[in-house]
Amino acid sequence: MIAILGAGSMGRLWAATLPAGQVAFVPRPAQSPAPEHYDFSPVSGPSRNITIPWLSARQTPTTLLVTTKAGDTLAALSCVLPALPESVPMVLFQNGLGSQQQVADTWPNRPILAAATTEGANRPRPDQLIHAGAGTTRLGALTDTGKAHRDTVVEALKSSGLTVIPADDIMHRLWQKLIVNAGINPFTAILDCLNGELLQQPFFQQWIEPLCNELSQLLEVAGQPAQSPRQLRERIEAVARATAGNTSSMRADVLAGRATEIAYINGYLVRLAERVDMDAPVNRMLTHRVKDLI
Ligand code: PAF
Repeated sequence: MIAILGAGSMGRLWAATLPAGQVAFVPRPAQSPAPEHYDFSPVSGPSRNITIPWLSARQTPTTLLVTTKAGDTLAALSCVLPALPESVPMVLFQNGLGSQQQVADTWPNRPILAAATTEGANRPRPDQLIHAGAGTTRLGALTDTGKAHRDTVVEALKSSGLTVIPADDIMHRLWQKLIVNAGINPFTAILDCLNGELLQQPFFQQWIEPLCNELSQLLEVAGQPAQSPRQLRERIEAVARATAGNTSSMRADVLAGRATEIAYINGYLVRLAERVDMDAPVNRMLTHRVKDLI
């Protein structure tokens, strides 16, 4: 049984694609025990109705997928982990950086893995889940005890039919995703536009170059392989084009009045810069502008 903590878009995508009967959502204290129902629209093929039960107190999962928002993760795990044996591996799916390290630092003896995924999923209605684009999920260990579980967890997640591969360089993968999120998400939230519409926006054109200068320096600060501002801009713009019709997760959060993950994306980069006495004015400006939206 694979347990999923966090019934948002990513949690529902894994729940809908893993073999039926082998997956359950983990209830949080205030949650009703009624099963979750939703319409699932795969990338191709007809929609189908999905019903996912909640994990009962008697069941011990083989793996825990943690698909909560970055800012909720520590509190959600603090409620759930006391009842979960220390040997159960958990996979952190959070966007950005910072929350994964908080979890690994809080429970260093648990087998903890992180996932960097490019799967696209969204929920236009609470009872609907659209798999908007097929991607790849890379899995790597964050704690020493996580290493021994990586390949077994990869095999278990492959039974979803989604593309899952092991990664020796998970921090590198998380950084690559962070760069793309830092260059797309705040702009789409501030400008209230689709990813593809960014490229024509004067505000994006004004700030993307200075932002990429900061991102390039911060990669170096973090000990990541060097990438020029131009390379970073090309990648950000290529992803914006490839996902032109998408509403970014940050814009979706703002539109729904939910807290955003800005503190773990551009906000994380501002904190990293501060630690080495570097200034990151563009990341700071974007962080403030997004925080002001809700
Ligand atoms: O956060 C998101 O929405 C996605 O990671 C991305 C790549 C910006 C596409 O919408």
